[in-house]
Amino acid sequence: MCGIIGYASKNLDSCSVALSCLKNLEYRGYDSSGVATSEQGKINMYKAQGKIANLEEKIKDHEISASTAIAHTRWATHGEPSETNAHPHKVGHVTLVHNGIIENYSDIKQDLLSKGMNFVSETDSEVACGYINYMYEQTGDKMASIKAACDEFRGSYALPIIFDDEPNTIYAVRKNSPLIVGKSDDGNFVSSDVSAILNYTNKYVLLDNDEFVKVTNDNVEIFDSNLNKIEKKVDTATWSAVEYQKNGYDHFMLKEIYEQPKVVKNILGKFYDDIDFTKYDNIHIVACGSAMHAGMVAKYLLENNAKIRTTVEIASEYRYKENLITPSTLVIIISQSGETADTLAALRLAKEQGAYVLAIVNVVGSSIAREADKTIYTYAGPEIAVATTKGYSSQVATLTNVALTIMKQKGLLEDSVMDTFYKDIEKIETLAEDLINSRDMYKAIANKLYTHENVLYIGRGIDSASCMEGSLKLKEISYIHSEAYAAGELKHGTISLVDQGTPVITIATVDNLYEKTISNLKETKARGGYTLLITTENQNVDNIKDSLDDVIILPKVSEFLESLLVVIVLQLIAYETAILRGADIDKPKNLAKSVTVE
Ligand code: AGP
Repeated sequence: MCGIIGYASKNLDSCSVALSCLKNLEYRGYDSSGVATSEQGKINMYKAQGKIANLEEKIKDHEISASTAIAHTRWATHGEPSETNAHPHKVGHVTLVHNGIIENYSDIKQDLLSKGMNFVSETDSEVACGYINYMYEQTGDKMASIKAACDEFRGSYALPIIFDDEPNTIYAVRKNSPLIVGKSDDGNFVSSDVSAILNYTNKYVLLDNDEFVKVTNDNVEIFDSNLNKIEKKVDTATWSAVEYQKNGYDHFMLKEIYEQPKVVKNILGKFYDDIDFTKYDNIHIVACGSAMHAGMVAKYLLENNAKIRTTVEIASEYRYKENLITPSTLVIIISQSGETADTLAALRLAKEQGAYVLAIVNVVGSSIAREADKTIYTYAGPEIAVATTKGYSSQVATLTNVALTIMKQKGLLEDSVMDTFYKDIEKIETLAEDLINSRDMYKAIANKLYTHENVLYIGRGIDSASCMEGSLKLKEISYIHSEAYAAGELKHGTISLVDQGTPVITIATVDNLYEKTISNLKETKARGGYTLLITTENQNVDNIKDSLDDVIILPKVSEFLESLLVVIVLQLIAYETAILRGADIDKPKNLAKSVTVE
């Protein structure tokens, strides 16, 4: 949430470079944006509500020659999206941008108000700025004043800061919000993530919690929590800037859907034999949103096939309850970004309680990847669209490998299962590509959905987990309300929502549950619902034609792989529906890609 960038340049191009980097971070928040520049030693601020394009429009007539700049794109937490609440904030000698939440800002604000300080915005960030300024006025020492303020702050922050009397230096600190330092021949950066600066450099340093940094155009100094100077390893990013472009696709989401077949093919079929899974008799999968749905899919594979008790937990709940972790509990944390605040907190809690934590993460070097006992990277490449697609599939593919590894280690893996699995892995890329290329089919279905305000997804077994992901995709990008329900549970209440024309999407790919699921589909048809069935080619749909308005037939593949095909259909139905509703596909309202606040 919130993208931040700071750049100290050897040239006078800090503002334009910072803004071009900021655009790569817009997926983190797009309620408002702003930049503070050091122009001939004077700090100027420019802000605009809405997307970064509005900020660019606003400053296009200014001739800005800035040696240093700090910029921000906001996902509002405290106070509505407005220019006043937009960052940067300036109080006294201090100007800053902030990603995170200062949880005790009200107390600090009261204290500062009682000392005569005034605030113009409703944000916690302006209060943080005010407090650092107050400490600076007391101590006259920049680094010490930042540290003293941080000692009071509770919550999360990544804070690039400029002082009026040293306008060509960026000071920064992080706690529980990501921050990296980028190094180049032309100057040095601080940024929320490496992807933002790849057009300028691939050399970066990962900052840990409570580390401080002082950045000028030709020097970077890093300090530990006691302000002792430390040396840190410089890493080289392996993702290239071109992977962050749409490359001819209308949307990043579509590009990422098209990348999916290759991504899952590259993951599937690996065994993780360096982990002894036989030590565990139960698994807690902990994650948020789609990553949690990937866990739901995996639960069926792990329990039905690997015979290991698996509970799937929402991270924001897990972190505040009794989880009954035992020495034989394996905790699996799933996160595309590796920075989701609740997931990271759940990881820390599980470790504190003695669990071994395995993380499944996409972003290399992210907080979750670094803090887990063991990390399996999905290497899905950068995912920019807020709605995850290849990120989710890469998680399901990785968890499939985990299930098969456990089966192998427990002697449950039959040769015939492996034969079908490997044979189908060979085909999965082409099958998935064929499905993606059936765009007209999804457009036709979208035409029937896009005027509705409620859609139901029903399925049994692993299909009920896929329903949850399909429903979330539709909600987040088309703004149509939808519910995912275990098909057998529908008549215990939710079927009351089915009326003439209510769209009901039924997924029925599990052989032994097919007939029961079809009965549930018929119950919705009998109440006037529009019925779309997604099933596999081995099922006979001729005898239920009267109950179906539309049907999508998928190739029959190994039970370990079918959900990876199902989700493509669900993603593209959501995508085409959102297009017809004119929604902002890659940046849906109120959402951000990386949820780094509770
Ligand atoms: C899905 O499309 C979402 N945007 C969201 O639910 C996401 O999966 C969730 O916020 C978890 O993110 P993470 O994988 O980066 O932890």
